[in-house]
Amino acid sequence: MNARRRTVMTAGAAGAAALVTGCGSSDGGGSDESSAPASADAELTGTADVPAGGGTILEDRKIVVTQPTEGEFKAFSAVCTHAGCVVSSVGDGTINCACHGSRFSIKDGAVERGPATRPLPAERITVEGDSIRLA
Ligand code: FES
Repeated sequence: MNARRRTVMTAGAAGAAALVTGCGSSDGGGSDESSAPASADAELTGTADVPAGGGTILEDRKIVVTQPTEGEFKAFSAVCTHAGCVVSSVGDGTINCACHGSRFSIKDGAVERGPATRPLPAERITVEGDSIRLA
């Protein structure tokens, strides 16, 4: 009688332990649903990350987003039209390539200084609230 009872209790304890373990692992897997689909309209950046009168280079997307005047956002390819470097900085109204010193306007991507001769191609974007996406 006693032995049987002990067996039941042991099984009960093991069952409880398994339940606890199960809860723990299902909590860990719960974050899966936050992974956003990688589509063309994925957010590029937030408006707060693009300084007015300047811009932000998104190296992984090879896109530069600028804000020539307050509230007006533009985007261009970040690949320099001279020899293909990714542009390195934005400042003084231009998008700058460190490879050979070309500069492009933050307003329209036009060449402000060579050796590049062709403008940075524009990228179409949409601004929704404080989020900037490819159009
Ligand atoms: Fe940009 Fe030459 S690659 S200036």
